[in-house]
Amino acid sequence: MSFTQIRTICCIGAGYVGGPTMAVIADRCPHIQVVVVDQNKDRISAWNNPDLTKLPVFEPGLDEIVKRARGNNLHFSCDVKKAIQSADMIFISVNTPTKNKGLGAGQASDLKWVEACARQVAQFSVGHTIVVEKSTLPVRTAATIQAILEATSSQEALEANPSFSVLSNPEFLSEGTAINDLEKPDRVLIGGSDPNAIEALVSIYKQWVYPEKILITNLWSSELSKLIANAFLAQRISSINSTAALCEVTGANIQEVANAIGSDSRIGSKFLSSGPGFGGSCFQKDILNLVYLCGHFGLPEVANYWESVVKINNWQKKRIAKLIVDKLFGTVTGKKLAVLGFAFKANTNDTRESPAIKIAKDLLEEGATLAIYDPKVTKEQISLDLTQYPAFESKNNQDLPTNLAELDSNWMYCKSIVEAVRGADAILILTEWNHFTNIQWSEISPLMRKPSWVFDTRGIVNPKHVTKAGLMCWRVGDGSL
Ligand code: NAD
Ligand code: UGA
Repeated sequence: MSFTQIRTICCIGAGYVGGPTMAVIADRCPHIQVVVVDQNKDRISAWNNPDLTKLPVFEPGLDEIVKRARGNNLHFSCDVKKAIQSADMIFISVNTPTKNKGLGAGQASDLKWVEACARQVAQFSVGHTIVVEKSTLPVRTAATIQAILEATSSQEALEANPSFSVLSNPEFLSEGTAINDLEKPDRVLIGGSDPNAIEALVSIYKQWVYPEKILITNLWSSELSKLIANAFLAQRISSINSTAALCEVTGANIQEVANAIGSDSRIGSKFLSSGPGFGGSCFQKDILNLVYLCGHFGLPEVANYWESVVKINNWQKKRIAKLIVDKLFGTVTGKKLAVLGFAFKANTNDTRESPAIKIAKDLLEEGATLAIYDPKVTKEQISLDLTQYPAFESKNNQDLPTNLAELDSNWMYCKSIVEAVRGADAILILTEWNHFTNIQWSEISPLMRKPSWVFDTRGIVNPKHVTKAGLMCWRVGDGSL
């Protein structure tokens, strides 16, 4: 079969990846009709909301692109069947969380959503369809998808004479910079064995990505590279966070150390900010998936190596909560602590696996009252996060607090920094929002109960300004304080 010219794309999954990725494809390829479908009606309604501030995903620059393309060649719909039927190419961009029960619970990826997509595609596709894995998947999942696609035997499906090529095209965008990452990617990775399908996908990316940045590999290298890229990134954070702890006890300064080691071009300066531990929906789940795969393929030493990255991350969150209690004379019972930032990083409304959740729960468990302010996270989301555990954690983690309903009554949602800090004994900076970098400490200090502390888990405040305003200061990795 010769190279397929793509005229219609369907993307299943209108989440943090599907929405922005398809918006950029539609924007850069006006000759292609792009339909993003989701089973979640509220999410689709939000994508169709005329008020662009109400899109379900907050990403700088996304609203402008949606404004340009929506209704022209970018569409959001719940009609999965229709979108599949008319698509030349289908992206699977659904969630792949950690399994919470059964074989591999707590480690392996739950592929039930991916499998459901493959079955829908098999049932409704017409003619030749290129199926693209956009979700992050365990290595060799393409074989499973191919098997499901080929096994379909319903009469309706057979009459449509379907045939399929499966490609892997993992997404490397980071939340908060998604649009820039999509428009100027370091690389686009395409894994596959069908040259026509690969050429069809390359022809889309070539509209705005330099050809030398488009890497072609076999399917398994592509699937594995995505997991390993996230594991390497997360490993850097666990390395810098473990170094931060060492800095604090030796008088060294993590920012100076990061600068010194990052100046070595072999190490590089990016991704060396120490913090409260990595969050986000993917690092932990992808490493745990890697750990599971290593075990499955008989490599326990390799599994242990990668698992230690997650262990250090959990330890970092725990140690920060503990040192806050220690510095506040060993007890936070009845004390008001202002939590600034709840998102897992700046410039996103996403709180999935945010380190703020674990730190807040530990402090609530210790009896603190929390006043939480985040410029983008809603009260409902914070309440949900504080009252739910990922199911696998509740089984495996002995350190978790027990009475969640009680914890939920001991925090308040604040609409400004000032509201949060009024009468507080301490301020905890948990997300590196710009707003917090520019706080005028001399104005904030008189609002607090003395003695009062600033705990900067992101290393964004100037300790001199804080102490000059009469506050005590702890900054992650700063052994001079
Ligand atoms: P998400 O939870 O935000 O979105 C997934 C969407 O898929 C949901 O809206 C869900 O309703 C929908 N869905 C699930 N099954 C469906 C079905 N059968 N039919 C229709 N809709 C269905 O997830 P996300 O953050 O966009 O991540 C998607 C994938 O991309 C994951 O594998 C993730 O690991 C990977 N990824 C995420 C990021 C990120 O920054 N979030 C970056 C790179 C890769
Ligand atoms: C990460 C990867 O960076 C993306 O390449 C990948 O596509 C994505 O995961 C995914 O597969 O989901 P993301 O989680 O959106 O992107 O954000 P990051 O910028 O990587 O930050 C992850 C966490 O690490 C955040 O909690 C952040 O605060 C923390 N971090 C990051 C640090 O503590 N220090 C750093 O130097 C960098």
